[in-house]
Amino acid sequence: MLDVSKRLKAQLKTTGKNDPLLAGKTLAMIFEKPSLRTRVSFAVAMTQLGGNGLVLRQEEVGLGTREPLQDVARVLASMCDGIMARTFEHNKIENLAKFSKVPVINGLTDLSHPCQAMADLLTVEEHFGKLSGLTMAFIGDGNNVARSLAVACGRFGMPFVLASPTGFEFPADDMKRLKSQEPKLDLRLTTDPRDAAQKADVIVTDTWVSMGQEAEKAKRLQTFRGFEVNDDLLALAPKHAMVLHCLPAYRGLEISESVLEGPRSLVFPEAENRLHFQKGLIAVLMGGQ
Ligand code: CP
Ligand code: NVA
Repeated sequence: MLDVSKRLKAQLKTTGKNDPLLAGKTLAMIFEKPSLRTRVSFAVAMTQLGGNGLVLRQEEVGLGTREPLQDVARVLASMCDGIMARTFEHNKIENLAKFSKVPVINGLTDLSHPCQAMADLLTVEEHFGKLSGLTMAFIGDGNNVARSLAVACGRFGMPFVLASPTGFEFPADDMKRLKSQEPKLDLRLTTDPRDAAQKADVIVTDTWVSMGQEAEKAKRLQTFRGFEVNDDLLALAPKHAMVLHCLPAYRGLEISESVLEGPRSLVFPEAENRLHFQKGLIAVLMGGQ
């Protein structure tokens, strides 16, 4: 998928368009949570590949409320060529996949955000010219984005360090799942962001308050104080270390304005790469690449 993404990105940049690999095809998209990047990148990816990205509002679809999930899955699969969904509960994605005969793509759940992780690796590979052997340090909440990055790092030979406050590391069941899913994953947990930054080639952070956790906001902001990715932290990292953030970012909380906008930020190329990775993904899943 990464290879196809790179090829399609190069094609777009050099010729201004892509081959219509998905002509006449439709990707149905359901969002239970807000989105900018995921929604736009999938819609534009479908357009640029000659197909259509159809956004269905959760209020209309009523996934699991207006009608059972297994019925939604079967009906969409009978008309569309792929389904992309962003849900709260992860088992909704799994159930959609169980009842759909077309590919179901995870556009973020409470558990994971695999499309983000792959766009991140595309960005890292473009910058460093390689993936294997690079150490990624995730500073902050052991959340959906962190979990998917850990899996991706395991798959591509990248040591992964998670620096989080006690209680916000990967829980035991996650550790077990990660180890069985990615036996080669070199994973280290720490509560010290400075320790994590010191040997990092890539430093990643994300919001301290994910969608659905708004009620815990005040407590979380308190707990995560000291975990900001700022100039002081970056000064401890190797000179070549670069910074990622999936966005939306909260400047002055998990990341400082100076780091986000500074010369070591890959955040906006990373956001653009959501588009390029989605294309590789759907070209493989729905376009026979
Ligand atoms: N990074 C990301 O998934 O952004 P959106 O929530 O805007 O889709
Ligand atoms: N962890 C964040 C990612 C947003 C793209 C969330 O789930 O809200």
